Amino acid sequence: MSSTSPLNGRRGVTIAVTSGKGGVGKTALTVNLAIALAQMDLRVGILDADFGLGNVDVMCGLTPLSHIGSVLSGEKAIGEIGATTVCGVRVFPAGNGVRALTSVPGGPWARLQSGIEDLSTTLDYLLVDTGPGIGDTALRVARATDRALVVTTCEPTALVDAYAMTKLLLTRAPQREVGLVVNMARDAEQGRHVARQLALAVQQFLGASIRYYGHVERDARVAESVEAQRPLMSLGTECPAARAYDRLARRIAPWMPPAAREVAAPMPVGMMSAEEFARTEARSCA
Ligand SMILES: Nc1ncnc2c1ncn2[C@@H]1O[C@H](COP(=O)(O)OP(=O)(O)OP(=O)(O)O)[C@@H](O)[C@H]1O
Ligand SMILES: [Mg+2]
Repeated sequence: MSSTSPLNGRRGVTIAVTSGKGGVGKTALTVNLAIALAQMDLRVGILDADFGLGNVDVMCGLTPLSHIGSVLSGEKAIGEIGATTVCGVRVFPAGNGVRALTSVPGGPWARLQSGIEDLSTTLDYLLVDTGPGIGDTALRVARATDRALVVTTCEPTALVDAYAMTKLLLTRAPQREVGLVVNMARDAEQGRHVARQLALAVQQFLGASIRYYGHVERDARVAESVEAQRPLMSLGTECPAARAYDRLARRIAPWMPPAAREVAAPMPVGMMSAEEFARTEARSCA
């Protein structure tokens, strides 16, 4: 186990990266956040749960040996699917163009859930990239993890869909903690503004809170790195998005699995009530 590993014999943390709206940057965030966490000497994996349309391996320039389909079919255990790695991050691909995987029925679902649990015993962090939409698969994946990070951009359509996803996550589990990342923001102020809008809606209509973890700037380097199939965080580039991924990783690194919450380090960003938000986020984003 790595020296900074928070496991101490316990299971790691599983985190779904989800959104509602497609194309908001979930996969880019998942990949770069995972690498940033791995660069902190943590054991990290990515499970691509955008079944049948997986992009994680493509974004990382990997040639997968097999995909999650063989786990869902019961052919293999998740640990046997021959994960490839990028910058030390183990990648469990979703398969691409496999139509049978686009809708996961009951039986295979149980296998996937126990696969996620299995992986959590060998990793400090398992990031689970979900597909777009609020359909059964994306929701089930998000609910099967310890935590959810909802990603939105600053566009009202993305915000409305992020609210829809948050609502569905909290409806069945009101105590669940939902985190928020605002991607493709102009700057910290715009990120905070968008987060405040969502927080107010969540508070007003759901009587709940979300935690804002920060923003990632719109940065052409992200798109360039996707084109080059080399994740931004693997390049050592100094740019706003790379700094943002690193900052987010530092905020997430103290997360603990549910059983270990009593010993968890204090969260870097406070539970975001409307009043508290401006103070806390301004301080932590400084
Ligand atoms: N911070 C950013 N700045 C600029 N471009 C970005 C940023 N984040 C993501 N992108 C670009 O946005 C596009 C969509 O990103 P990505 O594939 O990660 O979205 P997604 O939410 O996973 O999409 P889907 O819902 O289809 O899975 C990509 O072309 C990527 O390069
Ligand atoms: Mg994606």
